[in-house]
Amino acid sequence: MTLDGKIDTFARKGSAISSPRDKARVNQLRAEADAVMVGGRTLLDEDPKLTVKSEALRAERIARGLPANPLKVGVVSEANVESHAEFLHAGGSRVVLFTTSRTAKDQLDLLRSQGADVFVHAGERVDLPQAMNTLAELGVKRLMVEGGAIINFELLRLGLVDEVHAFVAPMIFGGQSAPTLASGAGLERSADAISLNLLNTETWEDGGVLLTYSVKQQRG
Ligand SMILES: NC(=O)c1ccc[n+]([C@@H]2O[C@H](COP(=O)([O-])OP(=O)(O)OC[C@H]3O[C@@H](n4cnc5c(N)ncnc54)[C@H](OP(=O)(O)O)[C@@H]3O)[C@@H](O)[C@H]2O)c1
Repeated sequence: MTLDGKIDTFARKGSAISSPRDKARVNQLRAEADAVMVGGRTLLDEDPKLTVKSEALRAERIARGLPANPLKVGVVSEANVESHAEFLHAGGSRVVLFTTSRTAKDQLDLLRSQGADVFVHAGERVDLPQAMNTLAELGVKRLMVEGGAIINFELLRLGLVDEVHAFVAPMIFGGQSAPTLASGAGLERSADAISLNLLNTETWEDGGVLLTYSVKQQRG
């Protein structure tokens, strides 16, 4: 994110924020994860590949008996992912989609014909605790969530996040509607804030700062 907490500009075209070193850090985290998740808007608007970009890191995963790339997870109310999407095919990863009955039957068939495992939840939106249970059943122990703002906030609000790793780039985007690290419905009172423990800080030669937090257990 930028110093003003933005994860994109108001144009929402997936603005570059990471430095080369930060891209390498993200790759390392992906390589250590069993699965990588994105929210619906990020998935549909940006069609991310979510693959490990380093051949050496992919080879390390294979040597550990893992697939070259982690499983990809999309959380999307209406899963209008196109059949040729990079998200579905890049890297040969297993793909899991959590969606709702807003996704048309034909579209579900199409996604399944492209190899995706699709879980359809009954409510208006995907039930995230249920999705986490499903992922655990599929063998996912370490899940990396790469945004965007709404899915980040929902997972934090539900107490489903253990750690937050934030690279703060030395830039400011501004913009009232530009997405931030966590948006969604938000909280009314500071007393309800999701509290964090600062685990580590690093200042980098590229002017960025890497902040690592654990999330404190929420009150019932
Ligand atoms: N800098 C970074 O590291 C980074 C990373 C990723 C994304 N981004 C940026 O973030 C922006 C997109 O973020 P966003 O906040 O608009 O959307 P998002 O978090 O990517 O996706 C949220 C959408 O997921 C769907 N969803 C379904 N069930 C849900 C549930 N239970 N909880 C939460 N979401 C659920 C909803 O779709 P419906 O509204 O259809 O119900 C919701 O609007 C883009 O500009 C992208 O470039 C930046």
